Amino acid sequence: MNVQLSSAFATGGVFIGNHWKAAQSGRTLDVVSPADGAPFAKIAAGGKADIDEAVATARRASEEGPWPRMTATERGRLLSKLAVAIELRTDELTALEARDTGKPLKQARADIVAAARYFEFYGGAADKLHGETIPFLNGYFVPTERVPFGVTAHIIPWNYPAQMFGRTIAPALAVGNTTVIKPAEEACLTPLRFAELAASVGFPDGVINIVPGLGEEAGAALANHPGIDFISFTGSPEVGTLIQTAAAKNHIGCTLELGGKSPHVLFSDADLEVAIPVIVNTVVQNAGQTCSAGSRLLIEKSAYDKVVAGIQEKFKTLRAGTPEMDLDLGPVISANQKKRVEGFFERATGNGVPILAEGAIADNVPAGGYFVAPRIYGPVPRTNELATQEVFGPVLSILPFEDEADAVRLANGTDFGLMAGVWSRNGSRALRVARQVKAGQVYINAYGAGGGIELPFGGMKKSGHGREKGFEALYEFSTLKTMIIKHG
Ligand code: NAI
Ligand code: MG
Repeated sequence: MNVQLSSAFATGGVFIGNHWKAAQSGRTLDVVSPADGAPFAKIAAGGKADIDEAVATARRASEEGPWPRMTATERGRLLSKLAVAIELRTDELTALEARDTGKPLKQARADIVAAARYFEFYGGAADKLHGETIPFLNGYFVPTERVPFGVTAHIIPWNYPAQMFGRTIAPALAVGNTTVIKPAEEACLTPLRFAELAASVGFPDGVINIVPGLGEEAGAALANHPGIDFISFTGSPEVGTLIQTAAAKNHIGCTLELGGKSPHVLFSDADLEVAIPVIVNTVVQNAGQTCSAGSRLLIEKSAYDKVVAGIQEKFKTLRAGTPEMDLDLGPVISANQKKRVEGFFERATGNGVPILAEGAIADNVPAGGYFVAPRIYGPVPRTNELATQEVFGPVLSILPFEDEADAVRLANGTDFGLMAGVWSRNGSRALRVARQVKAGQVYINAYGAGGGIELPFGGMKKSGHGREKGFEALYEFSTLKTMIIKHG
């Protein structure tokens, strides 16, 4: 795979004020390819000093630079230019994303296309956000205005580095914030490249600052920094607690997207030819390391055997391989993640949870890669961790349900509430169930919807709070100002 690495990537820099420089500590981290476990690049190990500099630079850009004087249309145009710049380099960026995350090339390509779409969508949306006027006392005129917070902080995970960059940065920029990003240490090359591309299409100095490094170092320094005005986080529930605590100490807002255990609720009258490939795909895409993975399949009892047979047949054909093999799934991101997934497998065996089917790892994958063969478990006891906990690996848990009421109870039976799918040809029933499921997005007879940049996305319950994507993200990344004008 031909991956072009600029010198900045090779030496491991932080990108502050549109310039690459070494981390102030001089330290770097190895970038490892999940497909063979071998290091192939270096990133900076940014720390508190780099975060201090990035926040100060973003603050200056927010108050003094050309950015606050630009019209919304001009900001939108820059976002649109970045969308085009990404699009023009789809091949290069696809290779980079695949090398960094291990995902199959076709999945990496879809991610780059989606990343460009975020900048396209928010480029167009930038000058469509407007306030209202409020009827008040006689002699008063009261308009409201959406204004940027100032400096927004963004801590993003490794599972979809390119998409996550677009999802969180594009709306924040569209409303006029300046940004500091701490990408994940496990995979962050496309975000670094996007920041460089943004500078090349004309984003002013200090609008996009990116400091790679360890979560406990650069991440914690950013989350706790008194100079940020808002923080957007996607990742584990444990770190989500730290982020919200840090935000509370600084009296700022945050959005948290903390994953899920999203159910597919499948009734006996569902169109299985449509449902089965979609359901299987939602749990193997990105090797199951997807916050919105439909990792619990709830099947109406009367159809259980038939559906399980269909899913088993499909699962047995699945193959994990390197990005270039471009099979159904790649490796998981790291040795740690592989250990985590295998830990679930070992405990399931210990608890006697039956394996219904297993895919395979392709024969000729490199020995050092972090490959996991995809698996289905079922029937999973309702209180077993495979029915309640996010695995973040290529694992589908199957549970039978009795009737509609049981289906709803089971669908809502975890701490999470990110997404859900309802499968039935009975439109009334599908809608009835969908409306009772507690999740930020519910699909009927579909799931995933190819990125869904236009669709507000986020959690209920312990999946987090706040909404990203769609027009809604423009509200999330801005605040409201009300002007009370007495004209007599
Ligand atoms: P994580 O929550 O530790 O990492 C996410 C981001 O937070 C990374 O950029 C990381 O550097 C940063 N971070 C870590 N510790 C931090 C701290 N103390 N202060 C500030 N930032 C910090 O997640 P991790 O360890 O990569 O994965 C663990 C599990 O979390 C996964 O197995 C999965 O279940 C879940 N997860 C969920 C994601 C989602 O999309 N909702 C994404 C990534 C992980
Ligand atoms: Mg962690």
